[in-house]
Amino acid sequence: MEVIRSIRAMQETVRNLKERAVTIGFVPTMGALHEGHLSLIRRCREENSFVVVSIFVNPIQFGPSEDFQSYPRDLEGDMEKLSALGVDLLFFPDLKEIYPDGYSTYVVVEGLSDKMCGAFRPGHFRGVATVVAKLFNIVKPDRAYFGQKDYQQTVIIKKLVEDLNFDIEIVVCPTVRESDGLAMSSRNLYLNADERKAASSIYRVLKKAEEMVRSGEALERVKEYMENALSTGPLIREVQYASVYHPETLDELTSESLKRSGCREVVLAVALVIGNARLIDNIVVDLTK
Ligand code: PAF
Repeated sequence: MEVIRSIRAMQETVRNLKERAVTIGFVPTMGALHEGHLSLIRRCREENSFVVVSIFVNPIQFGPSEDFQSYPRDLEGDMEKLSALGVDLLFFPDLKEIYPDGYSTYVVVEGLSDKMCGAFRPGHFRGVATVVAKLFNIVKPDRAYFGQKDYQQTVIIKKLVEDLNFDIEIVVCPTVRESDGLAMSSRNLYLNADERKAASSIYRVLKKAEEMVRSGEALERVKEYMENALSTGPLIREVQYASVYHPETLDELTSESLKRSGCREVVLAVALVIGNARLIDNIVVDLTK
């Protein structure tokens, strides 16, 4: 596996690949790779002749009181995993390469960025959209792979690609879960044993809420159930949101607004804090099945 740290070298490599009409698949990450990332990389490997993974812990998507400094980093472990999966190239730029002194251009996907997680993490999606747009311009992939666990991020990136005319197919892959249902996340590393056990309630509550939606329960009741079940759960310090959302606008849905929208899917989504970890999860419910 080749490792490239400079944008110039990356662009030169990409130019050569394009001349040979090679299809480039891209998985952008912040490292601390777990099975969720690896599933994206496997899918990317299957569908493209050249696979690029980036590792860059992007400071501008972290708030001032968030975990940028303590975010888990494990370059050696990550490189072993990437090599084993047959990744062709790791792009691993340093901070100054991506944001040199005087850097001043930002990308904001308006509206979508202020909802759900955006209401609790001001500036987060501006940071994500900016770095993803830069990485897309540097790597110029044909396809890029993201996990459904970050549902709002996938919606924002699809909108960014559409609005800024990136010629890139966005592929969203299913959430990978631990055996008790907890969605895999680098932030699960922050949980102690009791908190880890408590965190498994998130998926149980989502599955029960899915059953309620399927049996025709009013969405207001589903939200009430999710909020109550989670906020009374052990060790859960704060439930930031737990409700039913429109899959594209990310607006909260009531039974009435669902009827008006004609949506064929709804998203059940949750963000909460356990110990020092802010965890998110979601289930997309296909109403036609
Ligand atoms: O999902 C992530 O790990 C990050 O938000 C991303 C897409 C790599 C941008 O920094």
